[in-house]
Amino acid sequence: MCGIVGIVGQTPVAPLIVDALKRLEYRGYDSAGVATVERGELSRRRAEGKLVNLERRLEAEPLSGTIGIGHTRWATHGVPNETNAHPHFADEVAVVHNGIIENFAELREELKRDGYVFQSQTDTEVVAHLISRELRGGAEPIEAAHNALKRLQGAFALAIMFKGDEDLIIGARNGPPLAVGHGQGEMYLGSDAIALAPFTNAITYLEDGDWAVVRRNKVQIFDIDGNPVKRQRQQSVGTSYLVDKGNHRHFMEKEIHEQPEVISHTLAHYLDFISGKTREMDLPFDFAKLDRLAISACGTAYLAGLISKYWFERYARLPVDIDIASEFRYREMPLAKNSAALFVSQSGETADTLASLRYCRSEGVPIGAIVNVRGSTIARESNVTLPTLAGPEIGVASTKAFTCQLSVLASLAVRAAAERGTIDEEEEKRLVRQLSEAPRFASQVLKLDGQIEKVARELAKVNHVLYLGRDTSYPLAMEGALKLKEISYIHAEGYAAGELKHGPIALIDENMPVIVIAPHDRIFEKTVSNMQEVAARGGRIILITDETGAKRAGIETFETIVLPDMPEFIAPIVYALPVQLLAYYTAVQMGTDVDQPRNLAKSVTVE
Ligand code: AGP
Repeated sequence: MCGIVGIVGQTPVAPLIVDALKRLEYRGYDSAGVATVERGELSRRRAEGKLVNLERRLEAEPLSGTIGIGHTRWATHGVPNETNAHPHFADEVAVVHNGIIENFAELREELKRDGYVFQSQTDTEVVAHLISRELRGGAEPIEAAHNALKRLQGAFALAIMFKGDEDLIIGARNGPPLAVGHGQGEMYLGSDAIALAPFTNAITYLEDGDWAVVRRNKVQIFDIDGNPVKRQRQQSVGTSYLVDKGNHRHFMEKEIHEQPEVISHTLAHYLDFISGKTREMDLPFDFAKLDRLAISACGTAYLAGLISKYWFERYARLPVDIDIASEFRYREMPLAKNSAALFVSQSGETADTLASLRYCRSEGVPIGAIVNVRGSTIARESNVTLPTLAGPEIGVASTKAFTCQLSVLASLAVRAAAERGTIDEEEEKRLVRQLSEAPRFASQVLKLDGQIEKVARELAKVNHVLYLGRDTSYPLAMEGALKLKEISYIHAEGYAAGELKHGPIALIDENMPVIVIAPHDRIFEKTVSNMQEVAARGGRIILITDETGAKRAGIETFETIVLPDMPEFIAPIVYALPVQLLAYYTAVQMGTDVDQPRNLAKSVTVE
């Protein structure tokens, strides 16, 4: 998950490329670089670490070329240092790459035998040398690039530039996304529409196997066999991605606080609050005829899917098979005859989720995608897109996308129940009404931030945290642990509260805070028993519950965070907010990079 950019421009492109890379920094940020062609020569500036280091390098040593390529990196091969930073050169060729060249070792050895010397540890460098070797063999640049592309196996989005040609960038895509931007006398390449938003919203997405010859006034697209292909030019919504933090310290804080509004927008897309019923949805399957529903996703998106399993099975009596996509894609799960599949993804580009989708498609299963980026690959390869209307989520830790995913899934579960006749019209209206209250409750919960920040100061002092929950609070416990881990770097684990006595209870002592997510619901008393087991061993309990739960828990806690009483159905959506705030404030206390935590990237487009 790196970000790549290319511009064939009219003015010096280095500052424009850096601006575009800033909009892609969420994809990876452990090093960055820009290359241009000036007076026929290839020039390059690279820097380790955040993009600001590259900006400083360019201030000190500017580049003036009007054609260039740039890259912000999330390391897959080779440590994140300047030598491994892209663009990579080989004599007269410059390359930037997002993805993994799976046969790079074999190619590297072959090229070494031909006398090529490698400067970096990256897989990308083999692409530059492959093209260089083709040029040495007498091929023209376009043919050289095409011949090299045919040797590559694995996932790649590439932008390739040539010494001596100030009006040619070759773009290529196999897996990770690559978009062509159409300007006035300028052309662009970018990993997504967000990168190109300041320049153009006229976008053409390359498909897998495509490669493009990009010149100032013309773009030609070919398939891997060299046949010209037509790809649709569309208006991107990229310009709406021109976002900033507002008056918040971090994008994550802003996005947590946007949730009441974006949950409301998302619910309104699926629920008719006037009739009190779910809206017609143009689905490629009939819930009434489904025997099973498969759901697959990664990370936080997977946990949203896991929560929805409870809803689909409880309200619609629809069995759900759910798995993390990196497992699902290789398990080759036999899919029931009358089954459908849902894929949940904020970015719509996650490689494992996309691979799982393609497995289901190969099995002839109708596919729905719950995505936050409409033009994304997962959206385009599904039979129907079910959008989350969260708006651009810039913080690497997913927050508003998660609660919007839950909003879509909850609406779908009610729709499924209505279509399967497992609920009557009154029950449908009751559940829809409950969902319509979620934004209001979310708004109220945000007012607990002072108390939550106080608890976070305590969490920042420990090395391990245990989260517990039952039923739909169990996946939420895992989400809480994931949030804390990924932004504060404190080890945390989410566990089914009922499992505590089967092993994890050995961890409990006064140094292990236990965060218990327990709205007062049908199994609250069971969770109280688990809390008593913790308390009996000196564990410090931080209870997240509601007014009724706080009254009935009857247990000494380190802290109790009390939310308003609310319908059980919407609790997972609303209880996500204190869980997110707890991780956020802990990370702020730890001084970590909240929006761009170490080692992470927002969109994992490699497996
Ligand atoms: C969430 O906080 C993480 N950043 C990560 O687990 C993320 O949810 C996962 O990588 C899936 O991404 P996607 O939703 O874009 O597919």
